[in-house]
Amino acid sequence: MANLSTCEPIVVIHGGAWAIPDKLSSASVDGVCSAARAGYGVLKRGGTAVDAVEAAVLVMEDCPAFDAGTGSVLNTKGEVEMDSVIMDGRQLQCGSVACVQNIKNPVSLARAVMEKTDHTLLVGQGANEFAEEIGIHTVPTDSLVTEDAREEWRHFMKFKTTVNALFRNRAEETPVDSSVCDTIGHDTVGAVALDKFGNTAAATSTGGITAKRPGRVGDSPIVGSGAYADNDSGAVSTTGHGESITKVCLAREVTHRIEEGMSAQEASEAALQKMNRRVQGSGGVVAVSKGGDIGKHFTTERMAWAWIKAGKLHYGLNSGEDFVEDI
Ligand code: GLY
Repeated sequence: MANLSTCEPIVVIHGGAWAIPDKLSSASVDGVCSAARAGYGVLKRGGTAVDAVEAAVLVMEDCPAFDAGTGSVLNTKGEVEMDSVIMDGRQLQCGSVACVQNIKNPVSLARAVMEKTDHTLLVGQGANEFAEEIGIHTVPTDSLVTEDAREEWRHFMKFKTTVNALFRNRAEETPVDSSVCDTIGHDTVGAVALDKFGNTAAATSTGGITAKRPGRVGDSPIVGSGAYADNDSGAVSTTGHGESITKVCLAREVTHRIEEGMSAQEASEAALQKMNRRVQGSGGVVAVSKGGDIGKHFTTERMAWAWIKAGKLHYGLNSGEDFVEDI
C-alpha cells in the first residue's frame, strides 16, 4: 500500500464517449451513477481501488445501455468480441483480455489474468480456455446481444459506414448518413479510483466498435491506451476511437502530463487535444490524480460520466453539465 495516511476515497466513471441518442440518455446517466455508487460503496467499506473499479465496471457490463458485456456491439459477422483491462497502481500490475466471446463479465476475467497468471494479456480462444479453467463459464451469445445492437449492426452493414468516419474529425471524412449516426448509441465503459490508502486503479471494458473486422482489437485492453494506473501519478480510463487512442497511448499521455505537474483536468484536456491534432481522433477520458483531483473531458458530442468524492455524486452527459446530489 502506498502509505498509511487516510485519503478521501474517489471514484470516477465514464459510460462511453459518443453522440448518445436521447433514447439512451437517461439509461446511460442512471448506469454511470449506479456504477459510481457501487465503486464508492466498496471504497467506503475499506475495499481497494482495484475492488472498486471492478465493482463499478461490473455494473455497466450488466447494463444493456452500454457497449460492454451485455449490450456489446457486433462485428461484421454479427458476433460479439469483447476487450477489457484492469490495472493496479500500486506495483503496475495489470491484466487484459481481448477478443473474448461468450463471457458475461470480461473485467473479472482481466482481473484473473492479472492475479492468477504470469501474463498481462490473453486473447481469443486462449483467454476463453483460461476462463473455463478458473470456473468462469461461458454464456450464450444471445444473452449478450440486445435488439439495439442488432439494429445498429443492420444499419452499418446497409450503409457500409466505417467507424473511422464516425469518430474522426468529420471535416476530413466523407459525410456520414445521419440515420447511421443516430443509431450509434454507446461505447466503452470505464472507472478509475483512489482508495483511502492512496492507491490508484483503472479498468475499462468494451464490445469494441460496430461492424469491426473479426479479430480487431481496439485500445481498451492495451495498457497505456485504454487505461493506466500508477500511484506515482494517477489513474485514467479512456473511450472513443480505438485506433486513434492506440496511436497516441492516450491513458499514458494523461498520466505523463500529471507527472509533469498538470492537474488531472488539464492533463485530460491536453491529451485529447493532442489526439485530435496528431491523428484527428475523438474520444473521452476520466482521471484521478494521486492527490485526489479529478479529470473528465470528451471531444465527442456526449459522454455519460459520474464521480463521487466526499459524499457528493456529480454526473452529466452533455458539455458543461454538472448535476450534484448528496449520497
Ligand atoms: N474504444 C473502444 C474501441 O475502439 O474498441
